[in-house]
Amino acid sequence: MRLPVVDGDPSAIDEQLAIDMLRTAIDGGVNYVDTAYSYHGGKSELLVGKALQEGYRAHVHLATKMPSWLIESSADMTRYFEEQLQRMQTDHVEFYLLHALNAERWHNLRDAGVIEWAHERIKEGRIAYLGFSFHDTGTVFHEIIDAYQDWTFCQIQYNFLDEQMQAGTDGLLYAASKGLGIVVMEPLRGGKLALPNPEISALWNTASTPRSAAEWALDWVWNHLEVSLLLSGMSTMEQVRQNLAAAGRSSQGMLSSSDLQLVSRVRDAYEELIRVPCTACSYCMPCPNGVNIPGMFQLLNERSMFGSWDAQRNRYVQMKEQGSSAESCIRCGLCEDKCPQHISIRDELTSVVDQLG
Ligand SMILES: NC(=O)c1ccc[n+]([C@@H]2O[C@H](COP(=O)([O-])OP(=O)(O)OC[C@H]3O[C@@H](n4cnc5c(N)ncnc54)[C@H](OP(=O)(O)O)[C@@H]3O)[C@@H](O)[C@H]2O)c1
Repeated sequence: MRLPVVDGDPSAIDEQLAIDMLRTAIDGGVNYVDTAYSYHGGKSELLVGKALQEGYRAHVHLATKMPSWLIESSADMTRYFEEQLQRMQTDHVEFYLLHALNAERWHNLRDAGVIEWAHERIKEGRIAYLGFSFHDTGTVFHEIIDAYQDWTFCQIQYNFLDEQMQAGTDGLLYAASKGLGIVVMEPLRGGKLALPNPEISALWNTASTPRSAAEWALDWVWNHLEVSLLLSGMSTMEQVRQNLAAAGRSSQGMLSSSDLQLVSRVRDAYEELIRVPCTACSYCMPCPNGVNIPGMFQLLNERSMFGSWDAQRNRYVQMKEQGSSAESCIRCGLCEDKCPQHISIRDELTSVVDQLG
């Protein structure tokens, strides 16, 4: 989802670099690759297919996701699945997820016969394991798990700031108690936890064992016995190398009680700073009126987390000239239906205009 791109265009993947990064990761021991129908405007599965040529496919468990929001019937499920296999140049996937489930999408898919459809594909050997990724409340998470006895795994957003958000710690423990494998996404909150302000850096630097801010956040997730694996998007080769090294050092239960106390202090400091809980997943995009929604919230959050206004104001002016500032919002609300964090996007955009417009 966060492959390197050319000129900031999400659908223009920097192909050679992305292939080199994926292969470096696999050579370094990564054995699970997560993509989805919708990532990078549909180009991510194609890129993964190319990267897994020359023998790399055999070294990974491949995971991709049904575009839940586009499905109305089992014929749609088949159509998208066949297209996905073709894009990825493979005849099967090890892990197939119902993408970004919330209550409405789950009910639609269930009523359209998704479980029966998936059983057929499992019998044919074209899907090994069925699971779902999730962005809704803890109550909905329990409902989905309880609705089907044979889920093998789920994918949840989890990091040291999100213990009470979405599935959260309660959901992690519940899924584990039901024997599900648990894949964690957004361990760095979309990268934000890797960029601490000086106050938070100073807190991390009080640790007896030095770690980068990114490593602290990754280690906090890996520390959990219930976590089967962690996904972190990477947009540079340097991040791939750093995360391979961090994974090589990691183990469950590795954090001491004083380490965990430090994480709590950092969490408290962050909670005072973050203004809008946007992870820049871009599910709200494209905005029909051209607003760069994650970009707008990034400006607000950078202001509160890093303290300076000038850079944010300059970027706001540039975006306004391009027609992508919050001032282009016509309050249609299409974005709010798609936001996994359930942010009141229209009101928050008004607040961006108040502060930067
Ligand atoms: N199914 C779903 O509903 C869903 C939703 C979200 C994500 N996902 C999947 O889960 C994956 C993981 O989530 P995520 O990408 O949000 O993970 P994340 O780890 O929270 O964020 C990834 C970002 O963190 C930064 N980063 C990674 N390693 C770093 C390092 N060593 N040092 C400094 N910064 C580092 C990079 O930001 P910069 O690029 O800004 O440098 C990178 O793009 C996604 O890529 C996607 O495959 C699925």
